[in-house]
Amino acid sequence: MCGIVAYIGSKEAYPILIKGLQRLEYRGYDSAGVAMITAGGNMNVYKRKGKVSDLMEFAKGKDLSGTVGIGHTRWATHGEPNDVNSHPHYSQSKNLVMIHNGIIENYASIKEGLKKRGNVFQSQTDTEVLIHLIENIQQHEGIKLGQAVHAALKQVIGAYAIVVLDKNDPDTIVAAKKGSPMVIGIGNDDFYVASDASPIVEYTKNVVYLEDEQVAVLRKGKDLMIRNLKDKEITPYVQKLTIEIESIEKGGYDHFMLKEIYEQPRSVRDSMRGRLKADEGEIRMGGIIDHEKKFEKAKRIIFVACGTSWHACLVGEYLFEEFARVPVEVEYASEFRYRNPVIYQDDIVIAISQSGETADTLAAVELAKSKGATVLGVCNVVGSSIARATHGGSYTHAGPEIGVASTKAFTAQVTVLTLMALHMAKVRGTISESRYRQLCYEMDAVPAKIEQVLKLNDQVREIAFANKDSSNALYLGRGVSFPVALEGALKLKEISYIHAEGYPAAEMKHGPIALIDEEMPVYVIATKGANYEKVVSNIQEVKARKGKIIAVVTSGDKEVKAMADFAVEIPETDEFLVPLIAVIPLQLLSYHIAVMRGCNVDQPRNLAKSVTVE
Ligand code: G6P
Repeated sequence: MCGIVAYIGSKEAYPILIKGLQRLEYRGYDSAGVAMITAGGNMNVYKRKGKVSDLMEFAKGKDLSGTVGIGHTRWATHGEPNDVNSHPHYSQSKNLVMIHNGIIENYASIKEGLKKRGNVFQSQTDTEVLIHLIENIQQHEGIKLGQAVHAALKQVIGAYAIVVLDKNDPDTIVAAKKGSPMVIGIGNDDFYVASDASPIVEYTKNVVYLEDEQVAVLRKGKDLMIRNLKDKEITPYVQKLTIEIESIEKGGYDHFMLKEIYEQPRSVRDSMRGRLKADEGEIRMGGIIDHEKKFEKAKRIIFVACGTSWHACLVGEYLFEEFARVPVEVEYASEFRYRNPVIYQDDIVIAISQSGETADTLAAVELAKSKGATVLGVCNVVGSSIARATHGGSYTHAGPEIGVASTKAFTAQVTVLTLMALHMAKVRGTISESRYRQLCYEMDAVPAKIEQVLKLNDQVREIAFANKDSSNALYLGRGVSFPVALEGALKLKEISYIHAEGYPAAEMKHGPIALIDEEMPVYVIATKGANYEKVVSNIQEVKARKGKIIAVVTSGDKEVKAMADFAVEIPETDEFLVPLIAVIPLQLLSYHIAVMRGCNVDQPRNLAKSVTVE
């Protein structure tokens, strides 16, 4: 969380910083700030509670000049969102400024020590403590900024991605990271720094991903210098960005979320490209090929993830158990990492993360590795921390997801998990050839079926209109559709602030049924399959209590349609592939309800896309 961006070169920094912050705003948007050093050597800091647009308004008419600068968009951890707690933060003398993403865990003890030496703090942030410490070391030891940053970071416990500017050394930027992501873009005669590649891609495709405990010194007209905290010089490994600028812009849609919902036929197809050959009945996954023996012998699969990715894991549980006949556990990464879990060496741990940066998931990966398990990643962001920390895995290829509420990442994750489960089933001999081939064909047809569902947008908008004013909602599903109910409820509450709960349909009798009255919309996934009749009974129980039923049904369904107040018909598929299709109308529904309620769809309050703090 928090987005950082920095520039040093010959261009004006402010427009680059602001554009970068807008691209990073998904990472946090409770306050924003910039600092630039002018040609005359002044350091101007402008920061404001609110969005990047509020900062721009505030900065209008002020001196925004300078070819070196830093910018920050914040998601508050220490100290409420206000102007003072916004970044950048000054050092005691105000000669240094710093932006920070992460949490300095031992900031309180460092702060006490500095206070005793006379330092006075303006904010409640851990960031301000670190920049005071850096200056304190710089002054006491008479060393350069880069060395002072080094020395200070050796005293720090926690996670950080920081960028520091020194008014007295305007041709240098110092950047460092541990646990929080940082990319350095290398231009012709300039450098860019950012939390992800999106602020950089329109200027250069040459990037270096800084590793943990590395400190980079970027000087005008000089080569990039990187040292690690053990003081070893590191040769920068320059990589080429593969993302295109169009993929991070709205492309004519009102919101990123809507664009990303509509991208799903493509993103699901891209996630299968080169992996699934339906005609030949073959699934190949390069990133797990080295682990096939482990797949064959595995006694258990443990999934770890957070948020929507955790819901994808729950779908994975049904798929892996059904096809590969392997026991599966699905864990919240945050619980798993602190629970002293029992992990065996023949366990396969699969971490799922869109961003590849979620702090709890990354920590769960490290824990599982330390216990000797094989750890695989299913990440969307190429080169992300989780992708690098795992033994292998498969990227989802959904493309950049900007909307905070995850949509195309979810279907891409489920796509990859389905292929993995089928592949594992083949390796273990737990699936018949005919069923395997049939599922390969069905998978191949999923993108076209998603396209058909997207054509129902107008109908879904009408359903949204009829239900937009309810203050609660219940989502029900059974079997592999139960996680879809959870995901539908999460989408609604995230972006429209309507309280929503997902439940296994039969569990409704053990609590939620008490909530049902004529005001309560109950969204039910009631597609054809082994549980259909049971879901029909559950719907009747809701109707008997005057609840409103909005059902997702299989095309041609008559029984549920007759009972439901609203029904969305989706194309028929294998019942284990239903999540990939049934989730689409639920995503659209949440989107329309949120728009109708005047909510900020792409940046819902209090949420951030990439949760890099625990
Ligand atoms: C945040 C996002 C969610 C996401 C979750 C896990 O809460 O708002 O959309 O599902 O983090 O993120 P990850 O990047 O690990 O999938």
